Amino acid sequence: MNIAKNHHFQNKVVVITGAGGVLCAYFAKEIAKTGAKVALLDLNFESANQYANEIVNEGGIAKAYQTNVLDLASLQTAREAILEDFGTCDILINGAGGNNPKATTDNEFHEFDLTENTKSFFELDKAGIEFVFNLNYLGTLLPTQIFAKDMIGKKGANIINISSMNAYTPLTKIPAYSGAKAAISNFTQWLAVYFSRVGIRCNAIAPGFLVSNQNRTLLFDEKGNPTARANKILTNTPMGRFGEANELLGGILFLMDENYASFVNGVVLPIDGGFSAYSGV
Ligand SMILES: NC(=O)c1ccc[n+]([C@@H]2O[C@H](COP(=O)([O-])OP(=O)(O)OC[C@H]3O[C@@H](n4cnc5c(N)ncnc54)[C@H](O)[C@@H]3O)[C@@H](O)[C@H]2O)c1
Repeated sequence: MNIAKNHHFQNKVVVITGAGGVLCAYFAKEIAKTGAKVALLDLNFESANQYANEIVNEGGIAKAYQTNVLDLASLQTAREAILEDFGTCDILINGAGGNNPKATTDNEFHEFDLTENTKSFFELDKAGIEFVFNLNYLGTLLPTQIFAKDMIGKKGANIINISSMNAYTPLTKIPAYSGAKAAISNFTQWLAVYFSRVGIRCNAIAPGFLVSNQNRTLLFDEKGNPTARANKILTNTPMGRFGEANELLGGILFLMDENYASFVNGVVLPIDGGFSAYSGV
């Protein structure tokens, strides 16, 4: 279903970080169908460029920019190039983010009788934890510093961050990612207040559990039956199924669109089949 056709962003410049990745490449391709000029920013230029080319081949307007969201000089270079190619940013989607195995425990619970090579909380790597906090939190804050300045006073300007279910209640094993996403939700509210007098709205989505090519083998066995982890997720998702990327897109387009969401500011929208509402009892 082409839900993008209900939204019109002709002449709007939409800057998307992490646009070489699974979700944001998909968002970029769909947002391009609204007529927007889409700037795909990613550390991985090849990936972002491949998606930008796909958009252009389908008649959209897009360009990829190799950018490190943790490097102000790199962000500034991207800003200047986008300014020349498309004009100033109208909508910023802070999509770059993720976890790191060095910041992930092997065990869900600490036990008295752990086997010797279990990576417990006590073995978590400081550099891995810093990587996750920096990528998710600073990787949202720094692009906002660079692009929001141009958005001040522009009609319909807004920012969308990507939080997570972890922000409400942490998932087991991933304390750094959970903490960083909680910080993203908090920062979303902070930005919404801070920019409220200069016309920039700021909201976030908090995706529930999706099946993607990356996690498909973790969630389903070779016969297509849910694994133990998948069953745990489904048991805790009242709607009893995984989400699809296009179900996130609906939330993004809604929040982006001044015609639908002009008074929506500072919300973190769970798109989770009820996961965050359910106590499990
Ligand atoms: N996939 C999910 O189920 C899910 C659920 C909740 C939240 N999220 C969040 O959604 C966002 C996108 O997730 P995804 O699944 O598409 O991830 P992904 O790993 O496919 O994409 C992330 C992209 O960010 C890029 N990136 C990493 N470091 C960067 C840097 N320093 N500068 C610029 N780009 C950098 C990577 O190259 C990659 O292309 C992330 O913030 C993630 O935490 C995803």
